Amino acid sequence: MLADNVEKVLITEEEIIERCTQLGKQISKDYADTYPVIIGLLKGSVPFMAELIKHIDIDCEIEFMAVSSYSGVESMGDVKIVKDLDRSIKGMHVLIVEDIVDTGKTLEKVKELLYSKGAASVKVVSLLDKPDRRIVDIEAEYVGFTIPNEFVIGFGLDFDQKYRNLPYVGVLKEECYK
Ligand code: IMP
Repeated sequence: MLADNVEKVLITEEEIIERCTQLGKQISKDYADTYPVIIGLLKGSVPFMAELIKHIDIDCEIEFMAVSSYSGVESMGDVKIVKDLDRSIKGMHVLIVEDIVDTGKTLEKVKELLYSKGAASVKVVSLLDKPDRRIVDIEAEYVGFTIPNEFVIGFGLDFDQKYRNLPYVGVLKEECYK
């Protein structure tokens, strides 16, 4: 079973839903009357995005983008756009939905790109934040949970494309990637 490879559960499904409720309320308040476009970074943001938008009660649009930066547990360095946006975001207020801010390199590139496309503002909501690993000076405006420097899986986060479907965030057993 999938769960057999989980060392420990870090954040439960109930805790994630509760936090999404709070974040959704705050985002609805902050973006009232701005008609934001909420952009999920594929594939890791999908479960978080799905939960979060249920708690956002203002008019908005959703979009998806795919960038690649990781293979296994280590960064490959450069960030590449794999799937671009379907619509223009010129003059729009953008909220990026990310699964985790680790080194910060992905967000730096994506923010730069969205500003170059004419976005009026670009902010970030991330389910997780791993500040110990930060290389680039960047912070998400909205963070679900700050976690220690451990490789996590579940609720969208993968190891070699697996474990995204776990309904919680957990730590992978070391023997699975060593
Ligand atoms: P950054 O560019 O280093 O901030 O990396 C961001 C991306 O790396 C995330 O969107 C994840 O896909 C991946 N990542 C970073 N840390 C983890 C982790 O602990 N588990 C799974 N994926 C991770």
